[in-house]
Amino acid sequence: MTFSFDGKEIEAEPGQSIGAALIAAGYRSWRTTRHEGALRGVFCGIGVCFDCLVVVNGRPNQRACLTDARAGDRIEPQEGAGHGEFAC
Ligand code: FES
Repeated sequence: MTFSFDGKEIEAEPGQSIGAALIAAGYRSWRTTRHEGALRGVFCGIGVCFDCLVVVNGRPNQRACLTDARAGDRIEPQEGAGHGEFAC
């Protein structure tokens, strides 16, 4: 299956997390921190650190390491606290 990330098509296996699929595709970072804009990606890999946040179908603050990749999803990198159609 495939989903889009930052406008590019990414392949994923059924049951694979977004984070795992992005790493398999060669990405190492996709989020920037709120104050310094430092790059982040998967750090803990178990849902604790929140370094891997992405915007999934307009919904920010989704943990890429815990969220399953789904066919047709539109994933975007997250800047700071996140912006999206469903951001608070
Ligand atoms: S890598 Fe730590 S929460 Fe996802």
